[in-house]
Amino acid sequence: MLLRNKRLLGILASLGIALLAMPTVSSAQAQPEGTSPEIESLAKELELYVMPQSGPFRPDQISIANQTAIGNWARSGHSDSSSESFAHWNEEGEIPAVCATCHAGAGFRAFHGLDGSEPGPAQSPVPTGGVVDCDTCHNPGLGNVSEVKFPSGLIHPVSTTAEASCMTCHQGRAAGSMITQAVGSKNADTPDPELGFINPHYAVAASTWLGSYGGSGYQYPGKDYSGRFFHARPMTTCVSCHEPHNLEVAQETCTTCHEEGAPENIRLSRVSFDGSGDIEKGIRSDIAANAERLQGLLLEYAVSVAGTAMIFDGHQYPYFFADANGDGRIDQADGRSVGYKAWTPRLLKAAYNWKFVTSDGGAYVHNPHYALELLYDSLEDLAQPLGHDVEEWNIKR
Ligand code: HEC
Ligand code: HEC
Ligand code: HEC
Ligand code: HEC
Ligand code: HEC
Repeated sequence: MLLRNKRLLGILASLGIALLAMPTVSSAQAQPEGTSPEIESLAKELELYVMPQSGPFRPDQISIANQTAIGNWARSGHSDSSSESFAHWNEEGEIPAVCATCHAGAGFRAFHGLDGSEPGPAQSPVPTGGVVDCDTCHNPGLGNVSEVKFPSGLIHPVSTTAEASCMTCHQGRAAGSMITQAVGSKNADTPDPELGFINPHYAVAASTWLGSYGGSGYQYPGKDYSGRFFHARPMTTCVSCHEPHNLEVAQETCTTCHEEGAPENIRLSRVSFDGSGDIEKGIRSDIAANAERLQGLLLEYAVSVAGTAMIFDGHQYPYFFADANGDGRIDQADGRSVGYKAWTPRLLKAAYNWKFVTSDGGAYVHNPHYALELLYDSLEDLAQPLGHDVEEWNIKR
């Protein structure tokens, strides 16, 4: 397992010792008399390192009740101020308001009007340094947030503060309808300079989970898609599976119902979706195999139909690049990688779905069937002009 925030964890370890040696403070506001220089310097380091301005972070303000939560949170991506998700704007020193909703606690509070402002994106850019701090999920006003809007326009009612928080940030930034709008009535296989890649964004768990009801995938006309993955009754919210502070999923959560505890090995379906015939492996493998097949087909289509080879590089935005001379390397111009420009409507739809499914590493649990349907339909659509017979692959929808 990745141990993030090693520095902070070190500080917390020494804090554990410090806590034993000092009187317990139960209120976050209370200041013990005569704070020691040692505590003062620890507090400074904590502020320097994690920087969230809200939450009981000063060692002398941490109540026993919060100790475990803080320790767990410190191990999670939510507190990792050095990750690209939070450090991306460090050079500019501020995060654009539309981005800050999900990339800083302060932006999130502004978005839901928890800071006294009108609900909606912050009025001005938010200073960098914020993470998903305690007050993002524990702000008392969050209890009044009763619905979360999705990129498709869907307004989804939420009944818990956990849902209100997770679903605001883990919904992605695009919807299938944006693809429909972009391609309009353009010819399916003609490259169009007006088209560009539309990125679903990252960690789109809530959108995967809501399936066709959320409308975040590109859904081919005339096909039926699975709706929200209700799973089984007790698994009704994100935190039924994810511990809200370290964000991990404990295997015991699954073994109540599944024989297999390791999520990646869980399977109930008796159908081999990837055509391998293996129905012992986890459903995750079928999704991964079909996604890989789709990635291959995207590249094949790019060369054979769109007429320009494409290279995928997951480490560089906008991920899909041109290789016009077909030398297997991304074209460069003025020292920069050249983005793919020969998008056709058919290619855009399938690439969007591929990215949507693969950008949620938990899609196989959040909504395995919606993911499989999007992959199958994208494969089927691309296969057509390439003259492939989908039947021969034995894949199932
Ligand atoms: C303010 C926005 C925001 C809220 C609210 C939020 N997240 Fe996140 N979440 C993020 C960001 C940003 C990342 C990526 C962090 C990184 O890259 O280090 C992330 C990462 C994750 C991860 C990936 C694991 C990891 O350690 O990186 C999981 C799982 C997760 N969040 C689940 C949840 C759950 C469950 C909730 C609700 C209880 C939630 N998130 C609420 C923004 C948010
Ligand atoms: C609806 C919420 C939301 C909004 C709005 C949002 N993001 Fe994100 N973004 C996320 C989440 C969640 C992640 C974390 C993905 C992960 O687990 O690494 C993320 C990750 C990122 C990353 C890191 C990707 C990587 O390679 O690790 C960048 C860069 C980023 N977002 C840029 C932006 C920009 C720029 C904007 C504004 C134009 C923006 N985001 C708006 C939710 C959002
Ligand atoms: C991503 C959202 C999120 C963040 C960030 C977060 N919490 Fe929580 N926390 C929850 C949820 C959800 C619960 C479960 C109880 C509930 O339904 O309110 C919870 C429960 C708790 C509890 C009750 C005991 C427990 O562990 O279940 C404490 C104490 C707590 N949080 C403290 C903190 C502190 C301190 C921080 C900052 C270091 C923090 N939380 C950050 C979502 C969050
Ligand atoms: C209360 C019982 C219950 C618990 C607990 C539970 N599940 Fe499930 N799970 C189900 C049921 C029932 C289905 C079938 C739902 C459906 O297809 O509509 C299912 C389906 C799945 C599937 C899809 C399998 C397939 O082949 O289609 C995966 C993956 C999965 N669960 C993972 C998990 C994980 C991971 C956990 C623990 C974090 C978990 N489940 C906890 C009952 C449960
Ligand atoms: C049935 C259990 C279950 C539910 C419900 C659930 N998750 Fe997950 N989630 C998982 C599992 C299992 C993983 C995969 C963990 C792994 O592979 O390490 C995961 C992965 C993730 C990831 C990381 C994806 C990545 O790219 O690594 C995020 C973010 C996430 N979930 C957020 C959420 C949010 C937000 C919700 C609610 C909308 C939610 N999850 C609901 C079980 C669940």
